[in-house]
Amino acid sequence: MPATERQTLARRRIAPPQSLGRGVTTIAVASGKGGVGKTQIAVNLAVALAQRGRSTLLLDADLGLANVDVVLGIRPTASLEQVIAGERGLEDVVVEGPAGLRIVPGGSGVSRLANLSSREQGGLVNAFSSLSVAVDVMVIDVATGVDNLVLGFCGAASEVVVVLCDEPASLTDAYALVKLLARERGIRRFQVLCNRVQNRLHGRALFERFLAVCDRFLDVSLTHFGSVPEDKVFALAAQTQRAVVERFPSSAAGAVLKDLAVRADTFDVPRTPSGGPTFFVERAVAAMPVTLTTGVR
Ligand SMILES: Nc1ncnc2c1ncn2[C@@H]1O[C@H](COP(=O)(O)OP(=O)(O)OP(=O)(O)O)[C@@H](O)[C@H]1O
Ligand SMILES: [Mg+2]
Repeated sequence: MPATERQTLARRRIAPPQSLGRGVTTIAVASGKGGVGKTQIAVNLAVALAQRGRSTLLLDADLGLANVDVVLGIRPTASLEQVIAGERGLEDVVVEGPAGLRIVPGGSGVSRLANLSSREQGGLVNAFSSLSVAVDVMVIDVATGVDNLVLGFCGAASEVVVVLCDEPASLTDAYALVKLLARERGIRRFQVLCNRVQNRLHGRALFERFLAVCDRFLDVSLTHFGSVPEDKVFALAAQTQRAVVERFPSSAAGAVLKDLAVRADTFDVPRTPSGGPTFFVERAVAAMPVTLTTGVR
C-alpha cells in the first residue's frame, strides 16, 4: 500500500467523533461459556473508550447475574422492556455512566428480543433511530451461550470479541461459538481476548492453542486482541461498584484494558449509508425469528 494511502488510513482511524448517520464500530463481546469475564471486558472497554473521548454506547444484552448496572453501580429505572412495549423512548432508559458513557440497560427486555413480533421489531429499530446523540462506538455485552440472541448480536456487529480463559470448557464453548458464527452467519474475522492469564506469555500461548484448533477445522481469521491478567483489582473494584479502568487504571489489568481501547480505536469503521446503533439493531433483530402474534398485548 502506498505511504500516502497508509497515512490517510491512519488519520481516519483517529478521526473525531462522527455525526449521526455515519458508520459506527459495533463490538460484540461474547464467549460461549459463562463466567469467563465478558461483562468485565465489555464494561471496561466501553469506559476506556469513553475516557479516550469516544462517544460510546454500551448495550447490556447479558442475562447473567453481575450485569452492567451492578458492576458500575447504576440504578436504571427502566430498560429495553419498556422500550419494546412502547411505554418509553430509548432516551428515557439510557443511563449515563463514567466518562460520559451511555448505557442501555437490557433488563428483562433482553430475553424477549429473540421473540418479537414484526411490529415490536420495527418499534425497537425506530426507538434506536430516535437517539439524538452521535455515537462513535457501540459495545454489546452479549449473553452466554450460542442461541439466536447471541448469534443475532454477534452477526450484526462489525467486530466480535471472543473472551476465553485457560479452561477446557471455555475453549470448547468458544470454539462452538466461532464455528456457528462462521457457518451460520458467515463471519470470518474474530478478535480473541485471553482473560485471567498468568502473564503475557501465557496469554499468547492460549491464543496460539485456540488458533491452531480453529485453523485446522474452520475457515476463519483470528486476531489476538489482548491478554488480561488474573488480577485482584476486579474484586476490589467490584466492592465499590466501579470499573477497573476508573478505579485502578495503573494496575496490571487496568493498563491492558486501557490498551484494548487504543486497539479498538483502530478497528475499521463500517461504511454503511445509514449507520449507527439503528442499523446494528435492525440487523440484529432481523436475524431473529419473528413471532406469529400481531404484537398487540
Ligand atoms: N482478569 C480477571 N481477574 C480476576 N477476576 C476476574 C477477571 N475477569 C473477570 N473476573 C471475575 O470473574 C467473575 C465473572 O466475570 P464476568 O461477570 O465479567 O463474567 P461473564 O462472562 O460476564 O459471566 P456471565 O456468564 O454470568 O455473564 C467476576 O467476579 C469478575 O470480577
Ligand atoms: Mg456477564
